Amino acid sequence: MTSINDVTTIEKDGNISIITLNSPPVNALSAPVREGLHKGITEARNDGESEAIIIICEGRTFIAGADISEFGQEPKGPSLFEVQEFIEDSNKPVIAAIHGTALGGGLEVALTCHYRIAVPSAKCGLPEVNLGLLPGAGGTQRLPRVVGVEKALQMVTSGQHIPAKQCLEMGLVDEIAAEDGLREGSINFAKKIVSENRPLVKISEMNDKVEAARGNENIFTDFRASIARRARGFLAPEYNIQCIEAAVNNSFDEGIKIERKLFMELVTGTQSAAQRYAFFAQRQVAKIPDIEPDTEIKPFSSIGVIGAGTMGGGISMNFANVGIPVTIIEQSQENLDKGLGIIRKNYENTANKGRITFEDVEKRTNLIKGSTDINDLSNCDLIIEAVFENMDLKKDIFKTLDNIAKKGAILATNTSALDVNEIAAQTSRPEDVIGLHFFSPANVMRLLEIVRGEKTSKSVVATSMKMAKSIGKVAAVVGVCPGFVGNRILAQRQREANKLILEGAMPWEVDDALFDFGFPMGPFAMSDLAGLDIGWDEDLSTGDTLRDKLCEAGRLGQKTGKGFYIYDEKRNKSPDTEVEKLIIEFSEKHQIKRREISKEEILERCLYPMINEGFKILEEGMAIRASDIDIVWINGYGWPMYEGGPMFYGQLIGYDKILKWHKEMEEKFGSDFSPSPYLEKVVNEKINLFG
Ligand code: 3HC
Ligand code: NAI
Repeated sequence: MTSINDVTTIEKDGNISIITLNSPPVNALSAPVREGLHKGITEARNDGESEAIIIICEGRTFIAGADISEFGQEPKGPSLFEVQEFIEDSNKPVIAAIHGTALGGGLEVALTCHYRIAVPSAKCGLPEVNLGLLPGAGGTQRLPRVVGVEKALQMVTSGQHIPAKQCLEMGLVDEIAAEDGLREGSINFAKKIVSENRPLVKISEMNDKVEAARGNENIFTDFRASIARRARGFLAPEYNIQCIEAAVNNSFDEGIKIERKLFMELVTGTQSAAQRYAFFAQRQVAKIPDIEPDTEIKPFSSIGVIGAGTMGGGISMNFANVGIPVTIIEQSQENLDKGLGIIRKNYENTANKGRITFEDVEKRTNLIKGSTDINDLSNCDLIIEAVFENMDLKKDIFKTLDNIAKKGAILATNTSALDVNEIAAQTSRPEDVIGLHFFSPANVMRLLEIVRGEKTSKSVVATSMKMAKSIGKVAAVVGVCPGFVGNRILAQRQREANKLILEGAMPWEVDDALFDFGFPMGPFAMSDLAGLDIGWDEDLSTGDTLRDKLCEAGRLGQKTGKGFYIYDEKRNKSPDTEVEKLIIEFSEKHQIKRREISKEEILERCLYPMINEGFKILEEGMAIRASDIDIVWINGYGWPMYEGGPMFYGQLIGYDKILKWHKEMEEKFGSDFSPSPYLEKVVNEKINLFG
């Protein structure tokens, strides 16, 4: 075996050359990997005795794509295009031997090889769209030539990783090797190709499938319509479609030029910068600086949940979904039956949509046992309290848990605002107490805020992180403060939205501005969905707030057919003159002079204070890093991924501009707009939050 560079070796098995890449963690196509491939192929091509060349990888995966961290930097070494051309033009067959994932540039390299062999567990995909990109190394031109236009459209716009067996059926791979015999299998496959004198298949020259789609515009019109909803606001899906269109309507070389041009537009734009940032932020959030990798992980193989209401039910489903048994406690048999009934119904609805089988429904519901006796939790590894948001009640429950839970069990609260330290102080073991703030619907929403109390042990935090990963959540560790990170920032937006409608905007104008920014819905549509009467009491209503007025008028939101909006029987919303009248009267009564409010002002008023609050959170150490705040907002509140989250967006706008805006607003309207001292510091000292 000869070393080509730090990440590449070459060796021979008989007349077969084997180039092995070893660039952990994922063999991304960094400059050394490209260089290694280029030199390795050169050597093998020049070796008069070599009859075929295999490209294989060490470690967990085949090449998982271009090195994302290299984007935006001066290119070094041979370009990917040069490497690919060199592979495709080889005078002897080149075979990609795939395990793990062949993704993005990795699959694009494999598609320039003449053959591909994969182990059954391998997956192939072009996930660039998730980074706001398109496959920029010929992928959009080669893929449809192999799998056809429809499948190619689906793959490039979803970024889906396709299992090897399906790849074989689609023609993306030519052979499946034994799971633990890729090297041997690929050598045998190479020998077979040589002995059968099989041709050097160049995908770039295979035109049948793209030509078959030429002139059929409906494919693209229908496809665009089918993804319109999930692609709203994103540039990359449309650009990917245009590239596939280019493959259909142009020669390969022309198509490559179009792909290149569109790729460059995306890679230099802010959407992709935001999405690439989010990719790394999502991995960074799992790293807790003071928690060493060897921190003890406690077991979490039996779960207790207290309260079978909205949250308790959803939380339980997360565990049952991955085969972990749950015991739910309710205060009465009636509530328990109701809660368990809702869980079953949710599962049945999912099965009716074909997402799980009816067998799964039985398996999962069987894993969730109900009880009205809290002592039944005495053997649980992790107990999550999800009763009403009432401090006295939660305190009582934690006192009881202290008496009944086994030693070392994790005691968690799902409170959305109460002081986790105060709750922990009810027990003799505050080091075992933590906040696990799930979001509603808890079985669907990906975010979990892990609220680390003053005394919570590292082991409990580390276990909570591991548990979150095992149930498919994105977890962010946050500190104890009112609203933690997510809701604390949300409160800023809500306050300004409420003020804006009294100053002159209508709820639908505020909602439209935020919807157009990229949120799935605005604050008033959201209130209607949740119910305006959450926390409202008819007997205590004074009519002092607009919410009181709306609730008193029976406008409780979607459930009563009207709230801030009026709804038809299909729950489509429309603006309502009655609400307009109520709001105008309310402004007059409180002597608030109404005026025209622009969309731009709505966005500034709603979004800038959120960014300022983010700085306060960082200053107080309630989030570990700015990117964690962004991850909370992307995963928990629908901040559009292509805007990167409030802190990233703030940087795009310019923190200096946001500071200036706050100072001016503070002078005119007071302390709601007082800038965070940390924002001032960051601006004055030019601190890079993401460095
Ligand atoms: N570039 C640079 N670093 C990468 C990377 C890439 N393409 N893919 C993964 N990494 C890094 C991660 O940041 C992480 O680093 P860390 O340990 O320091 O946090 C490490 O590799 C491991 O990644 P994961 O934690 O995600 O590991 P998993 O095993 O869970 O997942 C994976 C592995 C499925 C390969 C996943 O990392 C992934 O989806 N990667 C991105 C794949 C991708 O998008 N490829 C396309 C890139 S763009 C491109 O190719 C353009 C081309 O068309 C020109
Ligand atoms: P809920 O009212 O739907 O459910 C609470 C359940 O707890 C009820 O079924 C009630 O019977 C039960 N319960 C009350 N006392 C009990 C006791 N002593 N023993 C056993 N069960 C008891 O409330 P929801 O919405 O599920 O909220 C629960 C907690 O989750 C609250 O702390 C809330 O702040 C928090 N939360 C709520 C979110 C939401 O969107 N609903 C989001 C995130 C957190």
